[in-house]
Amino acid sequence: MGKSHAFVQRCHGAITAEDRIRMFRQRPVTIWLTGLSGAGKSTIAFALEQQLVSLGHACYVLDGDNIRHGLARDLSFEKEDRRENIRRVAHVAQLMNDAGLIVITALISPMREDRAMAREIIGAGTFIETHLSAPVDTCARRDPKGLYAKARAGEIPSFTGVSAPYEAPVEPELRIDTATLTPDQSVAKIFDYLRENALALKLAREAAS
Ligand code: ADX
Repeated sequence: MGKSHAFVQRCHGAITAEDRIRMFRQRPVTIWLTGLSGAGKSTIAFALEQQLVSLGHACYVLDGDNIRHGLARDLSFEKEDRRENIRRVAHVAQLMNDAGLIVITALISPMREDRAMAREIIGAGTFIETHLSAPVDTCARRDPKGLYAKARAGEIPSFTGVSAPYEAPVEPELRIDTATLTPDQSVAKIFDYLRENALALKLAREAAS
């Protein structure tokens, strides 16, 4: 971070983004899921991935819990480290989009300005900010990993929604109420958005026929 790269130049091969779009028959986008722990990010990400792959799309989930075992294993949950986590994942997503793949990210990504950074790295038009919205009490009641109980007992510092903030997106491309919708219904909404916006060429062609 902060090092000068004045003498580092980008280089390009002969393969263009259009070549990859034709090869995979899809427009690579990043569906950036944001929401509290327990809002359904991982469940919905993997179910959406399954649906897209079953239709022949090349797609991959970058899940916060998994990333924190490797790429982000040196990072804490303090504000600056979360920002660095999001910066790294955004760059990986951008590279994967560049390779032609559809990416679904599942990170709490609690701060607006950090998501704005991700949008800038990935590119407006490619970045589909999707807020999985559920009240903190609903997430705490679900508590699939038992983390809210621990956080409320003071055992986990800086826990989002308990002792660290979550800033809901103001104008996300999609907002899904996961307190009232089932995971299948939530996946269907994202899928409909992709189809309506012709983001995946193969889907658009199927819809037309
Ligand atoms: S983010 O804020 O940097 O985007 P990320 O999505 O990578 O977070 O990781 C969140 C996951 O880490 C949660 O699903 C939860 O399992 C775990 N976790 C552990 N400690 C915390 C904490 N203090 N706050 C939030 N999540 C935590």
